[in-house]
Amino acid sequence: MHHFEFKNNELHAENISIAELANEYGTPLYVYSAATLRRHFKAFDSAFTGLDHMTCYSVKANSNLSVLRLLAEMGAGMDIVSGGELFRALKAGVSSSKIVFSGVGKKAYEIAEALKADILMFNVESVGEMHRINEVAMSMNKTARISFRINPDVDPKTHPYISTGMKKNKFGLDMVTAKEAYQTAKKLSNVNPVGIDCHIGSQLTTIEPFLEALDKLLAFREELGLLGIEIEHLDLGGGLGITYDEEQPPHPKEFGEALSKALEGKNLKVILEPGRVIAGNAGILVTEVIYTKKTPTKDFLIVDAAMNDLVRPSLYQSYHNISEVVKNDRPVVDYDVVGPICESGDFLAKDREIPELMQGELLAVYSAGAYGFTMSSNYNSRLRAAEIIVDGDDVIVARRRETYEDLLNLES
Ligand code: LLP
Repeated sequence: MHHFEFKNNELHAENISIAELANEYGTPLYVYSAATLRRHFKAFDSAFTGLDHMTCYSVKANSNLSVLRLLAEMGAGMDIVSGGELFRALKAGVSSSKIVFSGVGKKAYEIAEALKADILMFNVESVGEMHRINEVAMSMNKTARISFRINPDVDPKTHPYISTGMKKNKFGLDMVTAKEAYQTAKKLSNVNPVGIDCHIGSQLTTIEPFLEALDKLLAFREELGLLGIEIEHLDLGGGLGITYDEEQPPHPKEFGEALSKALEGKNLKVILEPGRVIAGNAGILVTEVIYTKKTPTKDFLIVDAAMNDLVRPSLYQSYHNISEVVKNDRPVVDYDVVGPICESGDFLAKDREIPELMQGELLAVYSAGAYGFTMSSNYNSRLRAAEIIVDGDDVIVARRRETYEDLLNLES
Protein backbone atom coordinates (compact mmCIF):
# COMPACT_ATOMS: atom_id res chain seq x y z
CA MET A 1 0.00 0.00 0.00
CA HIS A 2 1.29 3.42 -0.96
CA HIS A 3 0.82 6.56 1.03
CA PHE A 4 1.35 8.98 -1.86
CA GLU A 5 -1.65 8.34 -4.05
CA PHE A 6 -4.02 10.05 -6.43
CA LYS A 7 -7.56 10.40 -5.11
CA ASN A 8 -10.03 12.13 -7.41
CA ASN A 9 -7.17 13.10 -9.69
CA GLU A 10 -5.29 14.87 -6.93
CA LEU A 11 -2.10 13.63 -5.32
CA HIS A 12 -2.41 13.02 -1.58
CA ALA A 13 -0.02 12.23 1.23
CA GLU A 14 -2.11 9.91 3.37
CA ASN A 15 -5.39 11.84 3.83
CA ILE A 16 -4.07 15.27 2.93
CA SER A 17 -4.12 16.88 -0.50
CA ILE A 18 -0.70 17.96 -1.71
CA ALA A 19 -2.16 20.95 -3.53
CA GLU A 20 -3.69 22.14 -0.26
CA LEU A 21 -0.39 21.73 1.54
CA ALA A 22 1.40 23.70 -1.17
CA ASN A 23 -1.22 26.37 -0.93
CA GLU A 24 -0.87 26.64 2.82
CA TYR A 25 2.89 26.22 3.27
CA GLY A 26 4.28 27.33 -0.09
CA THR A 27 6.80 25.62 -2.35
CA PRO A 28 9.36 24.12 -2.64
CA LEU A 29 8.02 21.83 0.05
CA TYR A 30 9.22 18.51 1.39
CA VAL A 31 6.33 16.28 2.43
CA TYR A 32 6.90 13.08 4.40
CA SER A 33 4.39 10.37 5.22
CA ALA A 34 4.53 9.19 8.84
CA ALA A 35 2.75 5.94 8.00
CA THR A 36 5.35 5.18 5.34
CA LEU A 37 8.26 5.91 7.68
CA ARG A 38 6.73 3.61 10.28
CA ARG A 39 5.98 0.89 7.76
CA HIS A 40 9.51 0.98 6.35
CA PHE A 41 11.13 0.88 9.76
CA LYS A 42 8.94 -2.00 10.86
CA ALA A 43 9.46 -3.99 7.66
CA PHE A 44 13.21 -3.62 7.98
CA ASP A 45 13.49 -4.24 11.69
CA SER A 46 11.15 -7.22 11.73
CA ALA A 47 13.08 -8.88 8.91
CA PHE A 48 15.79 -9.64 11.45
CA THR A 49 13.68 -11.05 14.25
CA GLY A 50 15.23 -14.27 15.38
CA LEU A 51 18.59 -12.53 15.37
CA ASP A 52 19.98 -10.52 18.28
CA HIS A 53 20.02 -7.25 16.38
CA MET A 54 19.61 -3.51 16.55
CA THR A 55 18.41 -1.26 13.73
CA CYS A 56 20.34 2.00 13.93
CA TYR A 57 18.73 4.36 11.43
CA SER A 58 21.36 6.32 9.56
CA VAL A 59 20.62 9.91 10.55
CA LYS A 60 22.31 11.46 7.52
CA ALA A 61 19.54 10.24 5.23
CA ASN A 62 16.92 12.47 6.84
CA SER A 63 17.83 14.13 10.10
CA ASN A 64 14.74 16.21 10.76
CA LEU A 65 14.10 16.17 14.49
CA SER A 66 10.47 15.12 14.09
CA VAL A 67 11.47 12.28 11.78
CA LEU A 68 14.07 11.12 14.30
CA ARG A 69 11.53 11.36 17.12
CA LEU A 70 9.03 9.26 15.18
CA LEU A 71 11.65 6.57 14.59
CA ALA A 72 12.96 6.76 18.15
CA GLU A 73 9.40 6.17 19.37
CA MET A 74 9.42 2.94 17.36
CA GLY A 75 12.55 1.83 19.15
CA ALA A 76 15.11 2.75 16.50
CA GLY A 77 18.73 3.20 17.42
CA MET A 78 20.76 5.67 15.38
CA ASP A 79 23.93 5.69 13.33
CA ILE A 80 25.55 9.12 13.54
CA VAL A 81 28.53 10.69 11.78
CA SER A 82 29.02 14.00 13.58
CA GLY A 83 28.55 15.86 16.84
CA GLY A 84 25.58 17.56 15.22
CA GLU A 85 23.89 14.26 14.51
CA LEU A 86 24.61 13.13 18.09
CA PHE A 87 22.95 16.30 19.34
CA ARG A 88 19.89 15.65 17.18
CA ALA A 89 19.63 11.98 18.12
CA LEU A 90 19.78 12.73 21.84
CA LYS A 91 17.26 15.57 21.47
CA ALA A 92 14.96 13.16 19.65
CA GLY A 93 15.04 10.91 22.69
CA VAL A 94 17.17 8.06 21.37
CA SER A 95 18.79 6.11 24.15
CA SER A 96 22.58 6.58 23.99
CA SER A 97 22.99 2.84 24.37
CA LYS A 98 21.51 2.55 20.87
CA ILE A 99 23.85 5.05 19.18
CA VAL A 100 26.81 4.09 17.02
CA PHE A 101 29.27 6.70 15.75
CA SER A 102 30.57 6.17 12.21
CA GLY A 103 32.62 8.41 9.94
CA VAL A 104 36.20 8.78 8.80
CA GLY A 105 37.13 12.06 10.51
CA LYS A 106 35.82 12.38 14.05
CA LYS A 107 37.30 15.33 15.91
CA ALA A 108 38.39 15.21 19.54
CA TYR A 109 35.44 17.29 20.75
CA GLU A 110 33.00 15.00 18.95
CA ILE A 111 34.63 11.96 20.51
CA ALA A 112 34.40 13.60 23.93
CA GLU A 113 30.71 14.42 23.46
CA ALA A 114 29.97 10.84 22.45
CA LEU A 115 31.91 9.47 25.42
CA LYS A 116 30.09 11.81 27.75
CA ALA A 117 26.78 10.54 26.37
CA ASP A 118 28.07 6.98 26.78
CA ILE A 119 27.14 5.78 23.29
CA LEU A 120 27.25 2.09 22.44
CA MET A 121 30.17 2.12 20.05
CA PHE A 122 32.62 4.00 17.86
CA ASN A 123 33.21 2.65 14.37
CA VAL A 124 36.90 3.44 13.95
CA GLU A 125 38.32 4.07 10.51
CA SER A 126 42.04 4.63 11.06
CA VAL A 127 44.86 3.81 13.46
CA GLY A 128 45.19 7.52 14.21
CA GLU A 129 41.57 7.66 15.22
CA MET A 130 41.98 4.71 17.58
CA HIS A 131 44.81 6.55 19.37
CA ARG A 132 42.80 9.77 19.47
CA ILE A 133 39.81 7.99 21.02
CA ASN A 134 42.08 6.30 23.55
CA GLU A 135 43.60 9.66 24.57
CA VAL A 136 40.28 11.43 24.87
CA ALA A 137 38.80 8.53 26.83
CA MET A 138 41.81 8.49 29.15
CA SER A 139 41.44 12.20 29.87
CA MET A 140 37.83 11.55 30.82
CA ASN A 141 38.54 8.42 32.76
CA LYS A 142 36.35 6.33 30.48
CA THR A 143 36.67 3.30 28.26
CA ALA A 144 35.44 3.50 24.69
CA ARG A 145 33.87 0.47 23.04
CA ILE A 146 35.15 0.33 19.49
CA SER A 147 34.76 -1.56 16.24
CA PHE A 148 37.13 -1.18 13.35
CA ARG A 149 35.53 -0.55 10.02
CA ILE A 150 36.89 -3.17 7.67
CA ASN A 151 37.21 -2.46 4.01
CA PRO A 152 36.33 -5.89 2.61
CA ASP A 153 37.19 -4.95 -0.97
CA VAL A 154 33.91 -5.92 -2.60
CA ASP A 155 32.29 -4.10 -5.47
CA PRO A 156 28.76 -3.01 -4.56
CA LYS A 157 28.01 -2.13 -8.20
CA THR A 158 26.52 1.25 -7.47
CA HIS A 159 27.45 4.85 -8.34
CA PRO A 160 31.20 5.47 -7.74
CA TYR A 161 30.48 8.36 -5.33
CA ILE A 162 28.48 6.08 -3.06
CA SER A 163 30.67 2.96 -3.29
CA THR A 164 32.73 2.76 -0.16
CA GLY A 165 34.03 -0.76 0.34
CA MET A 166 36.59 -1.10 -2.41
CA LYS A 167 40.37 -0.95 -1.96
CA LYS A 168 40.65 2.43 -3.61
CA ASN A 169 38.12 4.10 -1.25
CA LYS A 170 39.08 6.26 1.72
CA PHE A 171 36.96 4.22 4.11
CA GLY A 172 37.90 1.67 6.73
CA LEU A 173 41.01 -0.44 7.15
CA ASP A 174 42.23 -3.29 4.99
CA MET A 175 42.31 -6.58 6.88
CA VAL A 176 46.07 -6.72 7.30
CA THR A 177 46.19 -3.27 8.89
CA ALA A 178 43.04 -4.02 10.85
CA LYS A 179 44.53 -7.14 12.39
CA GLU A 180 47.43 -5.15 13.76
CA ALA A 181 45.07 -2.42 14.88
CA TYR A 182 42.99 -4.88 16.94
CA GLN A 183 46.15 -6.15 18.62
CA THR A 184 47.26 -2.62 19.42
CA ALA A 185 43.80 -1.68 20.66
CA LYS A 186 43.81 -4.65 23.00
CA LYS A 187 46.91 -3.23 24.69
CA LEU A 188 45.63 0.32 25.01
CA SER A 189 44.13 1.23 28.35
CA ASN A 190 41.01 3.16 27.34
CA VAL A 191 39.61 1.46 24.25
CA ASN A 192 37.96 -1.92 24.17
CA PRO A 193 37.68 -3.58 20.74
CA VAL A 194 34.37 -5.41 20.91
CA GLY A 195 33.06 -5.24 17.36
CA ILE A 196 33.73 -5.31 13.64
CA ASP A 197 32.04 -3.05 11.17
CA CYS A 198 31.68 -2.50 7.46
CA HIS A 199 29.61 -0.42 5.09
CA ILE A 200 30.23 -1.17 1.45
CA GLY A 201 28.11 1.40 -0.29
CA SER A 202 24.66 2.80 -0.80
CA GLN A 203 21.74 2.09 -3.13
CA LEU A 204 22.71 -1.57 -3.56
CA THR A 205 20.13 -3.48 -5.55
CA THR A 206 21.35 -7.03 -4.97
CA ILE A 207 22.13 -9.03 -1.84
CA GLU A 208 25.29 -10.72 -3.09
CA PRO A 209 27.79 -7.96 -2.24
CA PHE A 210 26.43 -7.88 1.33
CA LEU A 211 26.85 -11.63 1.67
CA GLU A 212 30.32 -11.46 0.17
CA ALA A 213 31.34 -8.80 2.68
CA LEU A 214 29.72 -10.73 5.52
CA ASP A 215 31.66 -13.87 4.64
CA LYS A 216 34.90 -11.96 4.74
CA LEU A 217 34.02 -10.38 8.06
CA LEU A 218 33.09 -13.71 9.62
CA ALA A 219 36.38 -15.23 8.48
CA PHE A 220 38.21 -12.23 9.87
CA ARG A 221 36.43 -12.64 13.19
CA GLU A 222 37.72 -16.21 13.38
CA GLU A 223 41.26 -14.98 12.82
CA LEU A 224 40.84 -12.46 15.61
CA GLY A 225 39.50 -15.20 17.86
CA LEU A 226 42.73 -17.14 17.36
CA LEU A 227 44.57 -14.08 18.63
CA GLY A 228 42.42 -14.04 21.74
CA ILE A 229 40.32 -11.10 20.58
CA GLU A 230 36.66 -11.83 21.14
CA ILE A 231 34.23 -9.99 18.89
CA GLU A 232 30.64 -9.78 20.05
CA HIS A 233 29.24 -7.03 17.82
CA LEU A 234 28.98 -7.06 14.06
CA ASP A 235 27.84 -3.93 12.24
CA LEU A 236 26.92 -4.42 8.60
CA GLY A 237 26.27 -0.77 7.80
CA GLY A 238 23.45 0.39 5.57
CA GLY A 239 23.14 0.44 1.82
CA LEU A 240 19.99 -1.42 0.85
CA GLY A 241 18.64 0.28 -2.26
CA ILE A 242 15.18 1.49 -3.20
CA THR A 243 13.15 1.86 -6.37
CA TYR A 244 13.63 5.27 -7.94
CA ASP A 245 12.88 4.17 -11.47
CA GLU A 246 12.92 0.54 -12.49
CA GLU A 247 15.39 -0.87 -9.98
CA GLN A 248 14.20 -4.01 -8.25
CA PRO A 249 16.09 -4.14 -4.97
CA PRO A 250 15.43 -7.04 -2.64
CA HIS A 251 12.62 -6.49 -0.17
CA PRO A 252 13.94 -5.91 3.37
CA LYS A 253 12.37 -9.25 4.33
CA GLU A 254 14.43 -11.07 1.73
CA PHE A 255 17.53 -9.10 2.72
CA GLY A 256 16.97 -9.80 6.42
CA GLU A 257 16.33 -13.47 5.87
CA ALA A 258 19.48 -13.95 3.79
CA LEU A 259 21.65 -12.21 6.37
CA SER A 260 19.96 -13.91 9.30
CA LYS A 261 20.64 -17.27 7.71
CA ALA A 262 24.32 -16.47 7.23
CA LEU A 263 24.55 -15.27 10.83
CA GLU A 264 22.68 -18.10 12.49
CA GLY A 265 24.48 -19.62 15.44
CA LYS A 266 27.34 -17.13 15.24
CA ASN A 267 26.46 -15.64 18.59
CA LEU A 268 26.84 -12.05 17.43
CA LYS A 269 24.95 -8.91 18.28
CA VAL A 270 24.17 -7.52 14.85
CA ILE A 271 23.85 -3.83 14.05
CA LEU A 272 22.31 -2.49 10.85
CA GLU A 273 22.43 1.10 9.66
CA PRO A 274 19.69 1.58 7.05
CA GLY A 275 19.02 5.12 5.87
CA ARG A 276 17.62 5.37 2.36
CA VAL A 277 15.40 2.31 2.61
CA ILE A 278 13.60 3.87 5.58
CA ALA A 279 13.26 7.48 4.43
CA GLY A 280 13.73 7.57 0.64
CA ASN A 281 10.27 6.65 -0.55
CA ALA A 282 8.62 8.22 2.48
CA GLY A 283 9.07 11.71 1.08
CA ILE A 284 8.38 13.87 -1.96
CA LEU A 285 9.46 17.34 -2.98
CA VAL A 286 6.63 19.54 -4.19
CA THR A 287 7.49 22.34 -6.56
CA GLU A 288 5.63 24.94 -8.60
CA VAL A 289 6.13 25.79 -12.25
CA ILE A 290 7.38 29.37 -12.35
CA TYR A 291 7.63 29.57 -16.14
CA THR A 292 7.30 27.35 -19.14
CA LYS A 293 9.82 27.96 -21.87
CA LYS A 294 10.11 26.65 -25.39
CA THR A 295 13.39 26.78 -27.28
CA PRO A 296 13.91 25.46 -30.83
CA THR A 297 15.09 22.16 -29.34
CA LYS A 298 13.52 21.80 -25.90
CA ASP A 299 10.53 22.38 -23.69
CA PHE A 300 11.50 23.51 -20.23
CA LEU A 301 9.57 23.63 -17.02
CA ILE A 302 11.32 26.18 -14.85
CA VAL A 303 10.31 25.25 -11.32
CA ASP A 304 10.93 26.74 -7.89
CA ALA A 305 12.94 23.78 -6.56
CA ALA A 306 16.57 23.66 -7.56
CA MET A 307 19.84 21.84 -7.01
CA ASN A 308 20.17 23.58 -3.65
CA ASP A 309 16.96 21.80 -2.58
CA LEU A 310 17.62 18.40 -4.16
CA VAL A 311 21.17 17.93 -5.42
CA ARG A 312 21.01 14.24 -6.33
CA PRO A 313 20.19 14.67 -10.04
CA SER A 314 23.01 17.21 -10.46
CA LEU A 315 25.55 15.34 -8.35
CA TYR A 316 24.92 11.72 -9.28
CA GLN A 317 22.80 12.05 -12.42
CA SER A 318 20.26 10.22 -10.37
CA TYR A 319 16.74 9.62 -11.53
CA HIS A 320 13.73 10.85 -9.57
CA ASN A 321 10.29 10.11 -10.84
CA ILE A 322 8.21 13.24 -11.43
CA SER A 323 4.50 13.76 -11.93
CA GLU A 324 1.89 16.46 -11.99
CA VAL A 325 0.07 16.96 -8.67
CA VAL A 326 -3.34 17.50 -10.23
CA LYS A 327 -4.14 15.29 -13.21
CA ASN A 328 -5.16 16.96 -16.45
CA ASP A 329 -6.02 15.61 -19.88
CA ARG A 330 -3.70 17.78 -21.93
CA PRO A 331 -1.27 16.14 -24.37
CA VAL A 332 2.04 14.85 -23.04
CA VAL A 333 5.15 16.99 -23.55
CA ASP A 334 8.79 15.93 -23.37
CA TYR A 335 10.14 18.28 -20.69
CA ASP A 336 13.41 19.16 -19.02
CA VAL A 337 12.56 20.16 -15.46
CA VAL A 338 15.04 22.77 -14.28
CA GLY A 339 15.53 25.11 -11.33
CA PRO A 340 16.29 28.84 -11.17
CA ILE A 341 19.98 28.45 -10.22
CA CYS A 342 22.63 29.92 -12.51
CA GLU A 343 24.26 26.66 -13.57
CA SER A 344 23.52 24.24 -16.38
CA GLY A 345 23.89 21.44 -13.85
CA ASP A 346 20.78 22.71 -12.11
CA PHE A 347 18.10 20.28 -13.22
CA LEU A 348 15.75 17.87 -11.53
CA ALA A 349 14.92 15.75 -14.56
CA LYS A 350 15.59 15.58 -18.27
CA ASP A 351 13.39 14.38 -21.11
CA ARG A 352 10.33 13.48 -19.07
CA GLU A 353 6.92 12.95 -20.52
CA ILE A 354 4.45 14.92 -18.46
CA PRO A 355 1.04 16.25 -19.50
CA GLU A 356 1.43 19.85 -20.52
CA LEU A 357 1.70 22.13 -17.49
CA MET A 358 1.01 25.82 -17.06
CA GLN A 359 2.61 28.47 -14.96
CA GLY A 360 1.58 28.11 -11.32
CA GLU A 361 0.82 24.39 -11.52
CA LEU A 362 2.51 21.85 -9.28
CA LEU A 363 4.89 18.94 -9.72
CA ALA A 364 5.86 16.19 -7.28
CA VAL A 365 9.41 14.84 -7.26
CA TYR A 366 9.30 11.34 -5.76
CA SER A 367 11.76 9.36 -3.62
CA ALA A 368 13.06 12.57 -2.10
CA GLY A 369 12.80 11.59 1.57
CA ALA A 370 16.44 10.51 1.88
CA TYR A 371 19.44 12.66 0.98
CA GLY A 372 17.04 15.39 -0.11
CA PHE A 373 16.66 18.04 2.54
CA THR A 374 19.80 16.87 4.38
CA MET A 375 21.95 17.72 1.36
CA SER A 376 20.25 21.04 0.69
CA SER A 377 22.02 24.38 0.94
CA ASN A 378 21.49 28.12 0.65
CA TYR A 379 23.30 28.40 -2.69
CA ASN A 380 22.21 31.49 -4.59
CA SER A 381 20.92 32.74 -1.22
CA ARG A 382 17.86 30.63 -1.68
CA LEU A 383 15.85 29.94 1.43
CA ARG A 384 15.70 26.31 2.40
CA ALA A 385 12.39 24.55 1.89
CA ALA A 386 9.92 23.78 4.65
CA GLU A 387 9.39 20.18 5.72
CA ILE A 388 5.97 18.76 6.52
CA ILE A 389 5.02 15.42 8.02
CA VAL A 390 1.56 14.09 7.25
CA ASP A 391 0.25 11.59 9.77
CA GLY A 392 -3.21 10.41 8.73
CA ASP A 393 -5.33 13.56 8.95
CA ASP A 394 -2.66 15.48 10.86
CA VAL A 395 -0.12 17.89 9.47
CA ILE A 396 3.08 18.59 11.39
CA VAL A 397 5.38 21.43 10.38
CA ALA A 398 8.61 19.57 10.89
CA ARG A 399 10.68 22.56 9.78
CA ARG A 400 9.34 25.96 8.92
CA ARG A 401 10.48 27.67 5.76
CA GLU A 402 13.58 29.82 6.23
CA THR A 403 13.31 33.60 6.17
CA TYR A 404 15.71 36.28 4.93
CA GLU A 405 16.58 36.92 8.59
CA ASP A 406 17.62 33.28 8.96
CA LEU A 407 19.83 33.76 5.95
CA LEU A 408 21.83 36.56 7.58
CA ASN A 409 21.54 35.44 11.17
CA LEU A 410 25.12 34.27 11.53
CA GLU A 411 26.76 36.97 9.46
CA SER A 412 28.12 40.37 10.40
N1 LLP B 1 26.26 3.69 7.44
C1 LLP B 1 27.32 4.38 6.96
C2 LLP B 1 28.61 4.25 7.61
C3 LLP B 1 27.14 5.20 5.82
O1 LLP B 1 28.19 5.87 5.35
C4 LLP B 1 25.88 5.30 5.20
C5 LLP B 1 25.68 6.15 4.03
C6 LLP B 1 24.80 4.58 5.76
C7 LLP B 1 25.04 3.77 6.87
C8 LLP B 1 23.41 4.63 5.20
O2 LLP B 1 23.37 4.14 3.91
P1 LLP B 1 21.96 3.91 3.16
O3 LLP B 1 21.22 2.83 3.89
O4 LLP B 1 21.23 5.20 3.20
O5 LLP B 1 22.35 3.52 1.79
N2 LLP B 1 24.13 11.11 -0.67
C9 LLP B 1 24.09 9.83 -1.36
C10 LLP B 1 24.17 8.67 -0.40
C11 LLP B 1 25.41 8.69 0.46
C12 LLP B 1 25.45 7.57 1.44
C13 LLP B 1 26.55 7.76 2.42
N3 LLP B 1 26.63 6.79 3.46
C14 LLP B 1 22.83 9.77 -2.21
O6 LLP B 1 22.09 10.75 -2.23
O7 LLP B 1 22.61 8.79 -2.90
